[in-house]
Amino acid sequence: MGNAKLILEGKEYEFPLVVGTENEVGIDISKLRDRTGVITLDDGYGNTGSCRSAITFIDGDKGILRYRGIPIEELEQARFTEVAFLLIYGHLPNAAELTQWREKLTRHSLLHEDMKKFFEGFPASAHPMAMLSAMVASLSTYYPDDLDVDLNIVRLLAKAKTIAGFSYKKSIGQPFMYPMNHLAYTENFLHMMFAVPAEPLKISPTLERALNLLLILHADHEQNCSTSTVRMVGSSGANLFASISAGISALWGPLHGGANQAVIEMLEKIQADGGGYQKFVDKAKDKESGFRLMGFGHRVYKNFDPRSRILKKAADAVLAELGVDDPLLEIAKGLEEVALKDPYFVERKLYPNVDFYSGILYRAMGIPTNMFTVMFALGRLPGWIAHWKEMREQGSRINRPRQIYTGATQSPWVPVDKR
Ligand code: CMC
Repeated sequence: MGNAKLILEGKEYEFPLVVGTENEVGIDISKLRDRTGVITLDDGYGNTGSCRSAITFIDGDKGILRYRGIPIEELEQARFTEVAFLLIYGHLPNAAELTQWREKLTRHSLLHEDMKKFFEGFPASAHPMAMLSAMVASLSTYYPDDLDVDLNIVRLLAKAKTIAGFSYKKSIGQPFMYPMNHLAYTENFLHMMFAVPAEPLKISPTLERALNLLLILHADHEQNCSTSTVRMVGSSGANLFASISAGISALWGPLHGGANQAVIEMLEKIQADGGGYQKFVDKAKDKESGFRLMGFGHRVYKNFDPRSRILKKAADAVLAELGVDDPLLEIAKGLEEVALKDPYFVERKLYPNVDFYSGILYRAMGIPTNMFTVMFALGRLPGWIAHWKEMREQGSRINRPRQIYTGATQSPWVPVDKR
């Protein structure tokens, strides 16, 4: 493939093309400013490749999502811990690697006892995402040594679920439940969420399978807002815990991972309003209203979100298995049907995304609404870690975009009595 040509004020410049393994093509403009004096402007980075990455491939038009080449539909059969290994280390673990990996994830799941005191300082109303982000950042106070990257990766993966469980217990005023070494990763999380010291918890295999699926589907999504944040922060040389803590904060917003909480809140509003979808669809079409159908639309998927398809199917099965009859599932399906026929949504290629059905599953599992985005974060951890590690190994430059300045031109300072 040849070069790309740019004609700027009559002068021609050539820039090399970069072709990925799936034939995605980018124009390498890293020398653009040096050679021409101008920069590119790409609001929201919709056309900007920020890095080369070998972790996850998405074809948004065809609805394809693959981790290290393996389609998400095949990974449905896997366990979250092996998918985490796959994303971080680039290959499926063999039996010995998997056993060792799981042992390490189990062994490192306790928090330093002093960290429990941090929870005492948070108000009971604290959002669990705020606690998660703060607690992950504070792991760097206990493990400041950045040299053993693999050990810190294990610590983070192992302890994040303990932090998440403790955050929930704090919010409902129950005693913290310590991790149990005989339990698998997902079981351990359910134990720390739902067990109480007064009686043992029988972990439902249906719940455990649903959680495993949800975590796998969330495990990576290439250069989304939170992952780009992790890479951005990590590019300054910041440690793993600090970089991931920043990613957790980015995920919290309602346009990103926070949408799963916002979807349920929206469906509850529709239910309280009598269940009429059209009013909400009309409101979402009215730009003046500032309202959007939460769980609809995606920057990359313009046909369907493969994760949403899997979750819609799973929601039916899991609710049936658990014997849960949630009217919100019917409202969600009805809303989807109305929106998908509406020319506004059709023209803009707005389809249900991963957050549309995930909340219904979390609800059925007994996970409270304000924990939904924490669940997303637990799932996305391996992806963030994989990207942070890849960026380090690539020896990437500090990420530092430019801008087009639109402020005042040079102006004098005026003493206060003359203003
Ligand atoms: N409801 C109504 N209109 C919408 C919606 C929506 N949910 N999403 C996009 N639009 C409209 C938008 O107003 C714009 O219209 P116009 O061209 O007339 O100005 C057009 O569709 C394109 O939208 P955009 O905001 O330029 O698209 P984007 O790629 O910048 O944003 C998005 C993508 C996901 C932030 C957006 O679709 C959205 O806000 N969705 C609702 C929040 C949500 O569900 N977020 C979860 C995303 S998936 C999981 C994750 O990343 O965490």
